[in-house]
Amino acid sequence: MMRWLIAIAGFAVFAASAHQETALKDLMPKGMVIGVALNQRQFDGVDAAAVDIITKQFSQISPENVLKFQPIHPAADRYAFEAADRFVQFGVDRRMQVVGHTLVWHSQTGAWVFQGTDGRPADRDMLLARMRDHIRTVVGRYKGRIHGWDVVNEAIDEDGSLRKSPWQVGIGDDYVAKAFEFAREADPDAELYYNDFNLEKPAKRAGVIKLVRDLQARNVRIDGIGNQGHWRLDTPTIDEIDTALVELHATGLKVMYTELDINLLPNIPRGADPSIANPYANGLPDEMQQQLARRYADVFRVFLKHRHAVTRVTLWGLSDADSWLNRGRLNYPLLWDRQRRPKPAFDAVVAALRNGK
Ligand code: XIL
Repeated sequence: MMRWLIAIAGFAVFAASAHQETALKDLMPKGMVIGVALNQRQFDGVDAAAVDIITKQFSQISPENVLKFQPIHPAADRYAFEAADRFVQFGVDRRMQVVGHTLVWHSQTGAWVFQGTDGRPADRDMLLARMRDHIRTVVGRYKGRIHGWDVVNEAIDEDGSLRKSPWQVGIGDDYVAKAFEFAREADPDAELYYNDFNLEKPAKRAGVIKLVRDLQARNVRIDGIGNQGHWRLDTPTIDEIDTALVELHATGLKVMYTELDINLLPNIPRGADPSIANPYANGLPDEMQQQLARRYADVFRVFLKHRHAVTRVTLWGLSDADSWLNRGRLNYPLLWDRQRRPKPAFDAVVAALRNGK
Protein backbone atom coordinates (compact mmCIF):
# COMPACT_ATOMS: atom_id res chain seq x y z
CA MET A 1 0.00 0.00 0.00
CA MET A 2 2.72 2.43 1.10
CA ARG A 3 4.81 1.67 -1.96
CA TRP A 4 1.86 2.36 -4.18
CA LEU A 5 1.25 5.67 -2.50
CA ILE A 6 4.88 6.68 -2.94
CA ALA A 7 4.79 5.61 -6.57
CA ILE A 8 1.60 7.58 -7.18
CA ALA A 9 2.96 10.64 -5.38
CA GLY A 10 6.17 10.37 -7.40
CA PHE A 11 4.23 10.18 -10.61
CA ALA A 12 2.13 13.19 -9.63
CA VAL A 13 5.27 15.26 -9.01
CA PHE A 14 6.71 14.07 -12.30
CA ALA A 15 3.49 14.88 -14.15
CA ALA A 16 3.34 18.33 -12.58
CA SER A 17 6.92 19.14 -13.54
CA ALA A 18 6.48 17.70 -17.03
CA HIS A 19 3.47 19.95 -17.26
CA GLN A 20 5.56 22.96 -16.31
CA GLU A 21 8.03 22.06 -19.03
CA THR A 22 5.45 22.65 -21.72
CA ALA A 23 5.88 26.18 -23.07
CA LEU A 24 3.28 27.72 -25.33
CA LYS A 25 5.96 29.70 -27.15
CA ASP A 26 7.68 26.48 -28.28
CA LEU A 27 4.47 25.09 -29.71
CA MET A 28 3.40 28.06 -31.79
CA PRO A 29 3.72 27.71 -35.55
CA LYS A 30 6.56 29.56 -37.25
CA GLY A 31 5.75 33.24 -37.72
CA MET A 32 3.12 33.40 -34.95
CA VAL A 33 4.24 34.69 -31.56
CA ILE A 34 2.35 34.24 -28.30
CA GLY A 35 2.27 37.01 -25.73
CA VAL A 36 0.63 38.36 -22.62
CA ALA A 37 -0.31 41.78 -21.26
CA LEU A 38 1.67 42.70 -18.14
CA ASN A 39 0.65 44.69 -15.11
CA GLN A 40 3.03 46.63 -12.89
CA ARG A 41 3.46 43.92 -10.23
CA GLN A 42 4.68 41.62 -12.97
CA PHE A 43 7.22 43.83 -14.74
CA ASP A 44 8.43 45.13 -11.36
CA GLY A 45 9.09 41.53 -10.29
CA VAL A 46 6.85 41.77 -7.19
CA ASP A 47 4.69 38.90 -8.46
CA ALA A 48 7.58 36.45 -8.76
CA ALA A 49 5.40 33.41 -9.52
CA ALA A 50 3.90 35.27 -12.46
CA VAL A 51 7.32 36.40 -13.70
CA ASP A 52 8.51 32.77 -13.85
CA ILE A 53 5.52 31.73 -15.92
CA ILE A 54 5.71 34.74 -18.23
CA THR A 55 9.43 34.23 -18.84
CA LYS A 56 8.97 30.59 -19.63
CA GLN A 57 5.76 30.62 -21.63
CA PHE A 58 5.70 33.78 -23.75
CA SER A 59 7.81 35.45 -26.42
CA GLN A 60 5.93 38.76 -26.56
CA ILE A 61 4.60 41.28 -24.04
CA SER A 62 2.10 44.15 -24.18
CA PRO A 63 1.65 46.79 -21.48
CA GLU A 64 -1.80 46.54 -19.90
CA ASN A 65 -1.77 50.23 -18.91
CA VAL A 66 1.66 51.89 -18.50
CA LEU A 67 2.14 53.09 -22.08
CA LYS A 68 -1.27 54.69 -22.40
CA PHE A 69 -1.44 58.47 -22.82
CA GLN A 70 -2.61 59.38 -19.30
CA PRO A 71 -0.01 57.44 -17.30
CA ILE A 72 2.95 58.30 -19.54
CA HIS A 73 2.03 61.92 -20.31
CA PRO A 74 -0.01 63.18 -17.36
CA ALA A 75 0.39 66.91 -18.08
CA ALA A 76 1.32 69.04 -21.09
CA ASP A 77 4.84 69.65 -19.86
CA ARG A 78 5.41 66.36 -18.06
CA TYR A 79 6.14 62.81 -19.14
CA ALA A 80 6.40 59.97 -16.62
CA PHE A 81 8.56 57.25 -18.13
CA GLU A 82 9.74 55.30 -15.08
CA ALA A 83 7.18 52.51 -15.15
CA ALA A 84 7.13 52.29 -18.94
CA ASP A 85 10.93 52.04 -18.98
CA ARG A 86 10.78 49.10 -16.59
CA PHE A 87 8.13 47.39 -18.71
CA VAL A 88 10.21 47.74 -21.87
CA GLN A 89 13.36 46.59 -20.07
CA PHE A 90 11.54 43.48 -18.80
CA GLY A 91 10.98 42.44 -22.41
CA VAL A 92 14.42 43.46 -23.67
CA ASP A 93 16.14 41.48 -20.88
CA ARG A 94 14.25 38.37 -21.96
CA ARG A 95 14.59 38.99 -25.70
CA MET A 96 10.84 39.21 -26.04
CA GLN A 97 8.96 41.09 -28.72
CA VAL A 98 7.73 44.27 -27.00
CA VAL A 99 4.54 45.89 -28.29
CA GLY A 100 3.45 49.46 -27.50
CA HIS A 101 -0.19 50.09 -26.56
CA THR A 102 -1.47 52.70 -27.33
CA LEU A 103 -0.83 56.19 -28.76
CA VAL A 104 -4.15 57.70 -29.81
CA TRP A 105 -7.34 56.66 -28.04
CA HIS A 106 -10.37 58.41 -26.55
CA SER A 107 -9.94 56.62 -23.24
CA GLN A 108 -7.21 56.86 -20.54
CA THR A 109 -6.14 60.21 -21.98
CA GLY A 110 -5.99 63.27 -19.71
CA ALA A 111 -8.70 65.91 -20.12
CA TRP A 112 -5.96 68.55 -20.53
CA VAL A 113 -5.14 67.11 -23.96
CA PHE A 114 -8.44 68.30 -25.40
CA GLN A 115 -8.60 71.66 -23.61
CA GLY A 116 -7.66 74.89 -25.35
CA THR A 117 -7.30 78.37 -24.00
CA ASP A 118 -10.10 80.34 -22.27
CA GLY A 119 -12.02 77.19 -21.42
CA ARG A 120 -12.63 76.40 -25.07
CA PRO A 121 -11.84 73.02 -26.60
CA ALA A 122 -8.42 72.73 -28.23
CA ASP A 123 -8.52 73.49 -31.96
CA ARG A 124 -7.12 71.38 -34.81
CA ASP A 125 -3.66 72.90 -34.82
CA MET A 126 -3.23 72.60 -31.08
CA LEU A 127 -4.45 69.00 -31.05
CA LEU A 128 -2.20 68.02 -33.94
CA ALA A 129 0.77 69.64 -32.22
CA ARG A 130 0.02 67.75 -29.00
CA MET A 131 -0.47 64.47 -30.84
CA ARG A 132 2.80 64.91 -32.70
CA ASP A 133 4.74 65.84 -29.58
CA HIS A 134 3.33 62.83 -27.74
CA ILE A 135 4.04 60.36 -30.52
CA ARG A 136 7.52 61.70 -31.26
CA THR A 137 8.50 61.67 -27.62
CA VAL A 138 7.12 58.26 -26.67
CA VAL A 139 7.83 56.34 -29.88
CA GLY A 140 11.21 58.06 -30.21
CA ARG A 141 12.24 57.07 -26.70
CA TYR A 142 11.70 53.36 -27.33
CA LYS A 143 12.95 53.31 -30.90
CA GLY A 144 14.70 50.04 -31.58
CA ARG A 145 13.20 48.41 -28.50
CA ILE A 146 9.48 48.46 -29.29
CA HIS A 147 8.71 46.19 -32.21
CA GLY A 148 5.29 47.58 -33.08
CA TRP A 149 2.74 50.14 -31.93
CA ASP A 150 -1.03 50.23 -31.62
CA VAL A 151 -1.06 53.69 -33.16
CA VAL A 152 -4.81 54.25 -33.04
CA ASN A 153 -7.18 52.32 -30.79
CA GLU A 154 -10.96 51.93 -31.18
CA ALA A 155 -11.65 54.66 -33.78
CA ILE A 156 -14.67 52.96 -35.34
CA ASP A 157 -18.21 52.88 -33.93
CA GLU A 158 -20.47 49.84 -33.94
CA ASP A 159 -22.25 51.07 -37.11
CA GLY A 160 -18.95 51.34 -38.98
CA SER A 161 -18.69 55.13 -38.91
CA LEU A 162 -15.73 57.00 -37.50
CA ARG A 163 -16.25 57.39 -33.76
CA LYS A 164 -16.85 60.99 -32.66
CA SER A 165 -13.94 60.84 -30.26
CA PRO A 166 -12.42 64.09 -28.99
CA TRP A 167 -9.57 63.53 -31.47
CA GLN A 168 -12.00 63.26 -34.39
CA VAL A 169 -14.11 66.19 -33.25
CA GLY A 170 -11.10 68.45 -32.75
CA ILE A 171 -8.98 67.46 -35.75
CA GLY A 172 -11.33 65.93 -38.30
CA ASP A 173 -11.37 62.56 -40.03
CA ASP A 174 -7.71 62.73 -41.05
CA TYR A 175 -6.57 62.44 -37.43
CA VAL A 176 -6.05 58.70 -37.95
CA ALA A 177 -3.75 59.22 -40.95
CA LYS A 178 -1.89 61.95 -39.07
CA ALA A 179 -1.26 59.64 -36.11
CA PHE A 180 0.22 56.99 -38.40
CA GLU A 181 2.37 59.58 -40.18
CA PHE A 182 3.75 60.90 -36.90
CA ALA A 183 4.52 57.36 -35.73
CA ARG A 184 6.29 56.56 -38.98
CA GLU A 185 8.34 59.72 -38.63
CA ALA A 186 9.28 58.88 -35.04
CA ASP A 187 10.42 55.31 -35.76
CA PRO A 188 10.54 54.25 -39.41
CA ASP A 189 11.43 50.69 -38.38
CA ALA A 190 8.54 50.02 -36.01
CA GLU A 191 5.47 48.17 -37.20
CA LEU A 192 2.28 50.21 -36.99
CA TYR A 193 -1.13 48.77 -36.14
CA TYR A 194 -4.77 49.75 -36.00
CA ASN A 195 -6.48 48.05 -33.02
CA ASP A 196 -10.20 47.54 -32.26
CA PHE A 197 -12.84 45.17 -30.85
CA ASN A 198 -16.07 43.56 -32.11
CA LEU A 199 -14.54 42.98 -35.54
CA GLU A 200 -16.67 39.87 -35.92
CA LYS A 201 -19.65 42.20 -36.34
CA PRO A 202 -20.01 42.90 -40.09
CA ALA A 203 -20.90 46.62 -39.91
CA LYS A 204 -18.04 47.47 -37.60
CA ARG A 205 -15.57 45.32 -39.53
CA ALA A 206 -16.60 47.01 -42.80
CA GLY A 207 -15.82 50.37 -41.20
CA VAL A 208 -12.39 49.20 -40.09
CA ILE A 209 -11.60 47.76 -43.51
CA LYS A 210 -12.67 51.02 -45.16
CA LEU A 211 -10.45 52.99 -42.79
CA VAL A 212 -7.48 50.73 -43.50
CA ARG A 213 -8.00 50.82 -47.27
CA ASP A 214 -8.20 54.58 -47.13
CA LEU A 215 -4.84 54.74 -45.33
CA GLN A 216 -3.34 52.37 -47.88
CA ALA A 217 -4.71 54.46 -50.76
CA ARG A 218 -2.93 57.47 -49.29
CA ASN A 219 0.30 55.51 -48.94
CA VAL A 220 0.26 55.79 -45.18
CA ARG A 221 2.28 53.03 -43.57
CA ILE A 222 0.21 50.43 -41.71
CA ASP A 223 1.38 46.89 -41.04
CA GLY A 224 -1.34 45.15 -39.14
CA ILE A 225 -4.84 45.04 -37.76
CA GLY A 226 -5.20 44.18 -34.10
CA ASN A 227 -8.39 42.34 -33.28
CA GLN A 228 -8.74 42.62 -29.52
CA GLY A 229 -10.56 39.32 -29.06
CA HIS A 230 -12.55 40.10 -25.90
CA TRP A 231 -14.90 37.20 -26.43
CA ARG A 232 -17.44 35.04 -24.62
CA LEU A 233 -18.14 31.31 -24.57
CA ASP A 234 -20.69 31.30 -27.39
CA THR A 235 -20.12 34.63 -29.10
CA PRO A 236 -18.73 35.31 -31.55
CA THR A 237 -19.14 31.91 -33.22
CA ILE A 238 -16.10 30.16 -34.66
CA ASP A 239 -17.49 30.79 -38.14
CA GLU A 240 -17.76 34.50 -37.43
CA ILE A 241 -14.18 34.57 -36.13
CA ASP A 242 -13.04 32.72 -39.25
CA THR A 243 -14.88 35.04 -41.65
CA ALA A 244 -13.58 38.15 -39.89
CA LEU A 245 -10.01 36.84 -39.99
CA VAL A 246 -10.18 36.14 -43.73
CA GLU A 247 -11.73 39.52 -44.56
CA LEU A 248 -9.29 41.47 -42.40
CA HIS A 249 -6.36 39.64 -43.96
CA ALA A 250 -7.67 40.40 -47.47
CA THR A 251 -6.47 43.99 -46.90
CA GLY A 252 -2.97 42.56 -47.25
CA LEU A 253 -2.20 43.30 -43.60
CA LYS A 254 -1.08 41.03 -40.81
CA VAL A 255 -3.83 40.03 -38.39
CA MET A 256 -3.16 39.92 -34.66
CA TYR A 257 -5.28 38.87 -31.71
CA THR A 258 -4.10 41.48 -29.29
CA GLU A 259 -6.19 41.21 -26.09
CA LEU A 260 -7.60 37.69 -25.98
CA ASP A 261 -9.79 36.62 -23.07
CA ILE A 262 -13.07 34.71 -22.66
CA ASN A 263 -15.60 36.38 -20.37
CA LEU A 264 -17.65 33.81 -18.44
CA LEU A 265 -19.89 36.25 -16.58
CA PRO A 266 -23.34 37.34 -17.70
CA ASN A 267 -23.75 40.81 -19.13
CA ILE A 268 -26.25 42.18 -16.63
CA PRO A 269 -27.32 45.61 -15.43
CA ARG A 270 -25.71 47.10 -12.33
CA GLY A 271 -27.42 46.24 -9.07
CA ALA A 272 -28.69 42.87 -10.30
CA ASP A 273 -29.17 40.02 -7.85
CA PRO A 274 -25.62 38.90 -6.85
CA SER A 275 -26.42 35.23 -7.44
CA ILE A 276 -27.13 36.12 -11.07
CA ALA A 277 -24.47 38.80 -11.46
CA ASN A 278 -21.68 36.84 -9.77
CA PRO A 279 -22.61 33.18 -10.26
CA TYR A 280 -19.11 31.72 -9.69
CA ALA A 281 -18.26 33.57 -6.49
CA ASN A 282 -17.51 30.19 -4.87
CA GLY A 283 -15.57 28.69 -7.73
CA LEU A 284 -16.06 27.62 -11.32
CA PRO A 285 -18.06 24.39 -11.79
CA ASP A 286 -16.13 21.69 -13.61
CA GLU A 287 -18.59 21.75 -16.49
CA MET A 288 -17.83 25.43 -17.11
CA GLN A 289 -14.11 24.76 -16.78
CA GLN A 290 -14.41 22.19 -19.56
CA GLN A 291 -16.48 24.51 -21.73
CA LEU A 292 -13.83 27.20 -21.38
CA ALA A 293 -11.15 24.66 -22.34
CA ARG A 294 -13.09 23.64 -25.45
CA ARG A 295 -13.65 27.26 -26.40
CA TYR A 296 -9.93 28.09 -26.16
CA ALA A 297 -9.07 25.00 -28.22
CA ASP A 298 -11.59 25.98 -30.91
CA VAL A 299 -10.25 29.52 -31.01
CA PHE A 300 -6.64 28.40 -31.34
CA ARG A 301 -7.64 25.94 -34.07
CA VAL A 302 -8.96 28.83 -36.19
CA PHE A 303 -5.69 30.70 -35.67
CA LEU A 304 -3.78 27.60 -36.79
CA LYS A 305 -6.03 27.13 -39.79
CA HIS A 306 -4.95 30.62 -40.90
CA ARG A 307 -1.39 30.40 -39.67
CA HIS A 308 -0.03 32.46 -42.54
CA ALA A 309 -2.34 35.36 -41.78
CA VAL A 310 -2.01 35.49 -37.98
CA THR A 311 1.30 36.80 -36.69
CA ARG A 312 0.52 37.19 -33.00
CA VAL A 313 -1.81 36.09 -30.22
CA THR A 314 -1.69 38.06 -26.96
CA LEU A 315 -3.65 37.13 -23.83
CA TRP A 316 -5.01 40.12 -21.90
CA GLY A 317 -3.51 39.08 -18.57
CA LEU A 318 -1.77 36.03 -17.18
CA SER A 319 -4.01 34.61 -14.45
CA ASP A 320 -7.66 34.99 -13.56
CA ALA A 321 -6.57 37.10 -10.58
CA ASP A 322 -5.02 39.65 -12.95
CA SER A 323 -7.93 40.08 -15.35
CA TRP A 324 -9.65 43.40 -15.94
CA LEU A 325 -12.89 41.40 -16.33
CA ASN A 326 -13.32 40.77 -12.59
CA ARG A 327 -14.44 44.29 -11.65
CA GLY A 328 -15.85 43.34 -8.26
CA ARG A 329 -17.00 39.89 -9.43
CA LEU A 330 -15.11 36.62 -9.90
CA ASN A 331 -14.32 35.91 -13.52
CA TYR A 332 -12.26 33.08 -15.05
CA PRO A 333 -11.24 34.30 -18.50
CA LEU A 334 -7.58 33.23 -18.79
CA LEU A 335 -5.31 30.16 -18.90
CA TRP A 336 -3.93 30.28 -15.33
CA ASP A 337 -6.05 30.25 -12.17
CA ARG A 338 -5.82 32.60 -9.19
CA GLN A 339 -3.06 30.46 -7.65
CA ARG A 340 -1.11 30.73 -10.95
CA ARG A 341 -1.79 27.08 -11.74
CA PRO A 342 -2.43 26.18 -15.39
CA LYS A 343 -6.13 25.48 -16.00
CA PRO A 344 -7.69 22.82 -18.23
CA ALA A 345 -7.91 25.61 -20.83
CA PHE A 346 -4.11 25.76 -20.83
CA ASP A 347 -3.90 22.00 -21.48
CA ALA A 348 -6.49 22.36 -24.23
CA VAL A 349 -4.45 25.05 -25.97
CA VAL A 350 -1.31 22.90 -25.66
CA ALA A 351 -3.15 19.94 -27.19
CA ALA A 352 -4.58 22.07 -30.00
CA LEU A 353 -1.12 23.43 -30.81
CA ARG A 354 0.45 19.95 -30.74
CA ASN A 355 -2.23 18.43 -32.94
CA GLY A 356 -2.19 21.38 -35.28
CA LYS A 357 1.52 21.18 -36.07
C1 XIL B 1 -8.02 47.91 -19.88
C2 XIL B 1 -7.11 47.44 -18.76
O1 XIL B 1 -7.02 46.04 -18.79
C3 XIL B 1 -7.63 47.93 -17.42
O2 XIL B 1 -6.69 47.63 -16.39
C4 XIL B 1 -7.90 49.44 -17.46
O3 XIL B 1 -8.50 49.84 -16.25
C5 XIL B 1 -8.80 49.79 -18.63
O4 XIL B 1 -8.23 49.31 -19.84
N1 XIL B 1 -9.39 47.60 -24.81
C6 XIL B 1 -8.08 48.06 -24.75
C7 XIL B 1 -7.32 47.93 -23.48
O5 XIL B 1 -7.53 48.43 -25.79
O6 XIL B 1 -6.40 48.98 -23.32
C8 XIL B 1 -8.23 47.86 -22.27
O7 XIL B 1 -7.43 47.59 -21.12
C9 XIL B 1 -9.29 46.80 -22.47
C10 XIL B 1 -10.15 47.13 -23.66
